[in-house]
Amino acid sequence: MPDTQKQIVTVGVTGASGAILAQKTLALLEEDARVARVHLVVTEAGQRLFTEELGITSGDLKQLPSRILGHPVGKLEVLPNKDVGASIASGSCAVDSMVVIPCSMGTLGAIANGISDDLVARAADVMLKEGRKLVLCVRDTPFNRVHLENMLRAQQAGAVIMPAVPAFYHQAKTIDDLVTQYVCRVLAQIGLPQEKMYRWTGHSASKEAKA
Ligand SMILES: Cc1cc2nc3c(=O)[nH]c(=O)nc-3n(C[C@H](O)[C@H](O)[C@H](O)COP(=O)(O)O)c2cc1C
Repeated sequence: MPDTQKQIVTVGVTGASGAILAQKTLALLEEDARVARVHLVVTEAGQRLFTEELGITSGDLKQLPSRILGHPVGKLEVLPNKDVGASIASGSCAVDSMVVIPCSMGTLGAIANGISDDLVARAADVMLKEGRKLVLCVRDTPFNRVHLENMLRAQQAGAVIMPAVPAFYHQAKTIDDLVTQYVCRVLAQIGLPQEKMYRWTGHSASKEAKA
C-alpha cells in the first residue's frame, strides 16, 4: 500500500483504569501495514495509570512507546501533553482519526465542553471541528448525570462513545482475549478492521468449536 493511502492516527491515553487497552491499541497499530504513523499523547494521570497497572515507569518521554510495547517501535511518536502547539493541535495536520483509550471522565468533560487546555483535549477538539473520526473509550462506573450528559454532548458533536465494556459472546478464555476483542472493535470504528476480531454469525463460538 503506498504511504499516501496509509492512515495517520492519534492515540490519547488518560487517567482512567485500562492502561492495558492503550497498550493493546498501540501494539495493533504498530504492526498494522495500513498505518503510516501514530501520534501518542499521554496525560499526567495516564502516565500514572501505566505505572499503577502495568509497572511502566515514567522516564525519558521519547522512550515511552518502546517501554509500553517492550520493544523498539517504528511508527509511534510521543508528543508532550502540555504542548498545545504541537502539530496535531491544528486542523491542517493530516490526522485521519483519533482514539482516546482509556478516556477519563475529566477528559470527556473537557472534550464535550470544548475546553482545550491540554494536547489530548485540543487534538480531540480538532477532530470534531474537522469532521474526522474521534472515538472516546470512556471508563468509569457507575456514571453520574454529568458523565452521561457529557457523553451525549460529545456524541452529538460527532464523537463515537465506546465505553470500555468487554463482550463475552466470543467465549473469551483470558484477559487478553477480552482486551483484544474490545480493541479490535475500536479499531474497526476508525476504518482498521482486524482479522483477529471475532464476528458474531448467529451461532456461539462454543457451538462452532464443537461442530
Ligand atoms: C488508579 C486510578 C484509577 C482511576 N480510574 C479512573 C476511571 O476509571 N475513570 C475516571 O474517569 N477516572 C479515573 N481515575 C481518576 C483520574 O485519573 C483523574 O480524574 C484525573 O484527573 C484524570 O485526568 P486526565 O483526564 O487528565 O487523565 C483514576 C485514578 C487512579 C489513580
